[in-house]
Amino acid sequence: MKHLTIVKLGGSVITHKDSTPPKVNEANLSRIANELKVHTRGELIIILGGGAHGHQAAHSHGFADPTSPKELLVKGIPPIRHNMSALASSVETSLSEEGIPAIVIPPFVSVTLRNGLIHDYPTNIIRKSLDNGLVVITHGDVCFDEENIVSILSGDTIAVYLAKELDAKTILIGTDVDGVLDDNPKTNPSAKHIPVINQENKDTILSKTGPSTNTDVTGGMSKKVTELLEISRQNREIIIFNLTVPDRLKFLLQNKTTICTRIQS
Ligand code: IPE
Repeated sequence: MKHLTIVKLGGSVITHKDSTPPKVNEANLSRIANELKVHTRGELIIILGGGAHGHQAAHSHGFADPTSPKELLVKGIPPIRHNMSALASSVETSLSEEGIPAIVIPPFVSVTLRNGLIHDYPTNIIRKSLDNGLVVITHGDVCFDEENIVSILSGDTIAVYLAKELDAKTILIGTDVDGVLDDNPKTNPSAKHIPVINQENKDTILSKTGPSTNTDVTGGMSKKVTELLEISRQNREIIIFNLTVPDRLKFLLQNKTTICTRIQS
């Protein structure tokens, strides 16, 4: 692989997170598809978060509660799969409108988990698609779990796994905040932005970043940072940035500076 870039599109940016039934944020999505057009330097994987399409159905079917009965979880599979497929199809359409040749590879059909962690994740079709010049879209999903019947696989976990497995050089995690802050910016407007997280400051920072609020069933910012720190190394760019602000994704893809948090080894 030449230079694999992985871009995560946070669910709160590409969907209207509080809308029931779930709705795609068409304005953000078409802007993002347009910004992605500047990507020219190698292979590209786009990973979608769940947003309204994933988290609401997961929450109402007991995925946030370890004591939920098996029947309730299993009942959640069709609506979660339906919503995530619809979201992925919207993204595929937007990319196609910009002339980006993308295909959707959903985790559910081939990935298994064990206690919520990745157990088996075949990447052969992803590799072949990238080798043939296709942009791969994949997404957070519900997956069968060897221990817990079914669990939720988050887009962040996929990003970290594929980055390691396929040796990604650039990982851009798009969220609805400017990167990592030392407090929740939605409840504390004077929260301070942290430009770099490395081995020296990680413990202090992780003690301050809490899990996100509302119906997020997959862990929020501290889990993101912890997982990303595990794959940080020299010659690998890992960035958390604000995807709601126009042009930041474009600048990062063009190697230009913009407000973000870099995760370094
Ligand atoms: C969640 O993925 C997937 C489902 C709930 C099916 P993420 O955890 O990556 O989603 P966002 O980006 O936080 O919405």
